[in-house]
Amino acid sequence: MDVITDIATLRRRLAGESDIAFVPTMGNLHAGHLALVELARRHGRCVAVSIFVNPLQFGPHEDLAEYPRTLAEDLDKLADAHTDVVFTPDETTLYPEPQTVFVEPPPISMELCGATRPGHFRGVCTVVLKLFHIVQPRIAVFGKKDFQQLHIIREMVRQLDLPVCIVAGETVREADGLAMSSRNGYLKPEQRIEAPRLYRTLQQVVQMIREGCHDFARLEMQATESLTRYGWTVDYISVRNARTLLPATPEDGTLVVLGAARLGKTRLIDNIEFAL
Ligand code: PAF
Repeated sequence: MDVITDIATLRRRLAGESDIAFVPTMGNLHAGHLALVELARRHGRCVAVSIFVNPLQFGPHEDLAEYPRTLAEDLDKLADAHTDVVFTPDETTLYPEPQTVFVEPPPISMELCGATRPGHFRGVCTVVLKLFHIVQPRIAVFGKKDFQQLHIIREMVRQLDLPVCIVAGETVREADGLAMSSRNGYLKPEQRIEAPRLYRTLQQVVQMIREGCHDFARLEMQATESLTRYGWTVDYISVRNARTLLPATPEDGTLVVLGAARLGKTRLIDNIEFAL
């Protein structure tokens, strides 16, 4: 496995590779990331992973400084997963000067997570586009846990005619249902016990819809009230069309119920995609 920190060396290393499968990450790798690497292995001959905590996608009061950085452990895991190339740039490598050119993401990026994280998806799209130009993958793998991110990246690729095929990886969960996330490590023991309630609440919404309740606004409100009673601060619970991410209607074929909520200072997100 080659671990490369600068763009010129990376480009030289990848120059002869015609079938690169790329997994961009922010590190602190868990089984969810490793499942994406495994998926990449099935789609391309050369698996490249990037580890970069992208400051552009963090708001001024968010957890950029505390975000877990565990490079040595991450590299061990990637070597065990038979990764070919790991790109670990530092901030000045990717942003040698203040970034003034950005990708303007589609309007949906102002809703859901974008409503409480202004600029987040602009930062994500900008770094992902830069990484695509640097790595030049044939395919790139993103997790469905970040459902809105996956949707926005697909839109960016489609509308900017990027020659990259986006592959989606399933969410990997702990035994109690909690979606794996680097931010789960922030949870105090009692919060960790409470955390799977977000997924259970989304499951209840799905069940109610499948049983014929199509008053989505009422279901969203009930789910929000229920989580609030257990000490959560809810950013949103929302039932959407899984393809467009627009508010769902009973005529939509595939829906997704998405949620973002905080336990103390830890913000967790999750979603369930389902056919109506
Ligand atoms: O999902 C993530 O880890 C990040 O948003 C990504 C795609 C690596 C961009 O920084």
